[in-house]
Amino acid sequence: MTGRPLSRRRALALLGLGTASMTAGTIGWVTDFGAPIGGGRLRPASGEALRQPKVLASRNGLLDVQLIAGAGVRLAGWDTSAWGFNGTSPGPTLRVRPGDLIRLRLTNRIGQPTNLHTHGLHVSPQGNSDNPFITVDPGGSFNYAITVPSDHPAGTFWYHPHHHGTVADQIFAGLAGALLIDSGADPEIPVSDDLVLLVTDTTLDAAGRVVASDPMTRMMGRQGDLVLVNGQHQPVIAAAPAAMQRWRVINGCVSRVLALRLDGHGLTQVAIDGAFLPAPVERDQVVLAPGNRVDLLVRPVGGGRYALVADPYDPGGMGMLGMMGGSDTNIGPVLVATLAVTGPAAAPANLPTTLPAPPAPPDTVARRRRITFAMGMGGMGGGVMGMGAMAFTIDGRTFDPERDDQTVQLGTVEDWTVLNTGPMDHPFHLHAWPFQVRGNSRGTTPSARRQDVVLVPAGGWVRLRIPFTDYAGRSVYHCHILDHEDLGMMATVDVQG
Ligand code: C2O
Ligand code: CU
Ligand code: CU
Repeated sequence: MTGRPLSRRRALALLGLGTASMTAGTIGWVTDFGAPIGGGRLRPASGEALRQPKVLASRNGLLDVQLIAGAGVRLAGWDTSAWGFNGTSPGPTLRVRPGDLIRLRLTNRIGQPTNLHTHGLHVSPQGNSDNPFITVDPGGSFNYAITVPSDHPAGTFWYHPHHHGTVADQIFAGLAGALLIDSGADPEIPVSDDLVLLVTDTTLDAAGRVVASDPMTRMMGRQGDLVLVNGQHQPVIAAAPAAMQRWRVINGCVSRVLALRLDGHGLTQVAIDGAFLPAPVERDQVVLAPGNRVDLLVRPVGGGRYALVADPYDPGGMGMLGMMGGSDTNIGPVLVATLAVTGPAAAPANLPTTLPAPPAPPDTVARRRRITFAMGMGGMGGGVMGMGAMAFTIDGRTFDPERDDQTVQLGTVEDWTVLNTGPMDHPFHLHAWPFQVRGNSRGTTPSARRQDVVLVPAGGWVRLRIPFTDYAGRSVYHCHILDHEDLGMMATVDVQG
């Protein structure tokens, strides 16, 4: 994709939207954070050495932490009024083991309701565990207690707010962090460096304030001007030739699909969404929907500098994202980071031949369901500034936290076919119960046994096998384009035991 083949007006016309709604999106929009759209943008300081977020690790089976969500963090090399946890964005990396208890006190200093979700963890969704229905009011605190089961896969997860209606705003403003589960086996894979690369995007004005989104951009899913790794712009990852690094890449972007490649290198994928694949897979490119994680093994080929690039990804809908966002980073390719290889060569590292993949779910399927994601006219009512006509629905309805959309029998395995009738890909995500992707309308054969976000192709489908074999309780599934989730593309599942 090069240039901008369609004007914003033309793209709107194709969407069937009037020019009245377009006007609403183009006047000087004032954000929740106080920054007007269209002002000067922050010039990022680029090329610093990649930093790792501070690690808070469990001891003797317990991780006891306080996370204070508040304003004032360093982003893209500047002191900004963006948000973070304990003064940084991303927040600290939480590191635990299977069987541990996470005792987490969340304190809300962002002046609007929030909460916390441990994305990808197979844990109880009830009470003060990973419960998406909790609200922590401004100035308040909440004590989470999340028990990680002793058979939980070891891998890469993350945490972020999940307060319906403002999830996209709060992540775009900087609220996210990595959550790693370490196996008992040390090392899991012998590597010279084990790095978290939490990728987020945001837009900051010249004064370092987060620029909010307008209704039109939210419809397409907002993409920030700045693509950041651990809050840094285009950082440099240092390595010695041949020294094998593990990169835990987390797509923490609100809407952006990351199609990553590394110049001069193949990428060896060993895990997706916190679960190992049965064996390493060599790829030229890895595609992460918002919310996805991949663990990569990178073996630098020789001295030099190599770009980690996010290639343009067309999420469908006539490439509308690129045109609507009004920023070159929406059209890409985007430099995400640089691998700088210097120094004497390390002893060549051997790739593992097999990996501790979780077992495939049982074959006895108790029930099949069909779930339909749609984006279309009508149904939403009372929306923002002329956008009222565009609805983001699951099975024809927008989110109602009081309604049970699916009722599942605890201890059973189900197959869900998720259909997407719309012109854009939607990343399907289910809390608490990770699934196996059995197939999709593109005919690709998935290699993963377990994941928690999967792109449902525009006009297509995916088929999932979901073991509801433990954890009763109510939780949610939704589109992980978080603007869509906030607009109502979320539903509830009640697992009854
Ligand atoms: Cu990463 Cu329901 O979310
Ligand atoms: Cu989640
Ligand atoms: Cu969506």
